Amino acid sequence: MGLYQLQPIIRSYDKRVDRARVEDLERRCEVGPTERVFLFTDTMGDPICRIRNSPMYKMLVAELDNELVGVIQGSIKVVTINKPPKDNIATGAKVGYILGLRVAPHQRRKGIGSSLVRELEEWFVLNEVDYAYMATEKDNEASVKLFVKKFGYNKFRTPAILINPVQNRPSHISSNVEISKLKVEEAESLYRKFMSSAEFFPNDINDILRNKLSLGTWVAYPRGESLGNTKSWAMLSVWNTGGLFKLWLGKAPLSCLIYTKSSRVISRLFPCFKLVPSLPDFFDPFGFYFMYGVHSEGPLSGKLVRSLCQFVHNMAIASKDCKVIVTEVGGHEFELRHHIPHWKLLCPEDLWCIKALKNKDHEEERNKDLLDQLTKTPPSKPLFVDPREV
Ligand SMILES: CC(C)(COP(=O)(O)OP(=O)(O)OC[C@H]1O[C@@H](n2cnc3c(N)ncnc32)[C@H](O)[C@@H]1OP(=O)(O)O)[C@@H](O)C(=O)NCCC(=O)NCCS
Repeated sequence: MGLYQLQPIIRSYDKRVDRARVEDLERRCEVGPTERVFLFTDTMGDPICRIRNSPMYKMLVAELDNELVGVIQGSIKVVTINKPPKDNIATGAKVGYILGLRVAPHQRRKGIGSSLVRELEEWFVLNEVDYAYMATEKDNEASVKLFVKKFGYNKFRTPAILINPVQNRPSHISSNVEISKLKVEEAESLYRKFMSSAEFFPNDINDILRNKLSLGTWVAYPRGESLGNTKSWAMLSVWNTGGLFKLWLGKAPLSCLIYTKSSRVISRLFPCFKLVPSLPDFFDPFGFYFMYGVHSEGPLSGKLVRSLCQFVHNMAIASKDCKVIVTEVGGHEFELRHHIPHWKLLCPEDLWCIKALKNKDHEEERNKDLLDQLTKTPPSKPLFVDPREV
């Protein structure tokens, strides 16, 4: 680093002056594979849209010599982490999620990414966050080295992202299966009863279910039985990501390689488009559905989960805007994976990394114990993937 190198100014995002510059930076930052067809993202004039639905959020920008050279986003919420040793109650913890870290290509390796992460962690600490976590592609060397080597994050979960392109023909749903939509209060009560010990189960599940992007929660059970007395049942909820941002494919000459996607999930969708026979469909702006809170019980649970997925697929056809259905399942839920329709060749793993923050002294030991549990033992509970974080 030169003696007179300017230090970036890190400050909060200000929509009036930063919106267009952040969008431009996103376009110049390449996250996924470089191919001749590009996936464009339209955040519909709101680059902060991905975190806006969280209880607390912040977006920081880095400025160097009046140029916007970096950006990072973070959100805070309370989730179930895991039970501490000698205690059988699932523990709530305040967690800070880091996403959307980007540094302008010509300004990399000058410490700007690190400054942004450091500043966001300080905001977490100020708000008494116990753990910071982030997710990235396993092969994103820059990101993994930055978080794991430089900032001491621990790799701890590798959930699989399942992608199912929406076909033109409706899926056949077995006539032996009854599917019904739950009221928000019913859905909340079922989630709190059956999923509140899942890792990262959000305390504000009620807000997620009530959000206008949440299209609803459905249950499936054998026809002729009732939800109250059946042995087998399944449930899931649907989040309309298309209400936040749209995607579309565009062809661009090699000189425009800078135009790529803006989020990790979107980058994961990319390779599958090449395999879709009806590729032209994706040249018009489209959205995707994210299925979350998938839970099932009983001997027929697999069949019931499949029926719910088929139901969501048919909903997507009717919506006209949704061209892809995405879900993310934790490492130990192999059985579940088997019943969720997806492209088998496309099952990328997401790498989640976590770090205990130096909080109030008396909580540090407890946080470290829980972190050891999380990172040193294989997952024994399902993972709740928050739709606000895709
Ligand atoms: C990841 C990214 C934000 C890093 O920004 P940056 O300003 O270059 O990072 P820093 O200069 O602070 O680097 C900090 C450390 O990260 C690691 N690192 C950063 N870039 C790296 C690279 N290309 N290869 C290997 N390690 C890298 C190094 O350990 C580095 O420390 P060092 O320079 O002392 O060796 C930037 O490369 C980027 O915008 N990439 C595209 C978007 C992306 O992948 N974001 C992450 C999604 S979670």
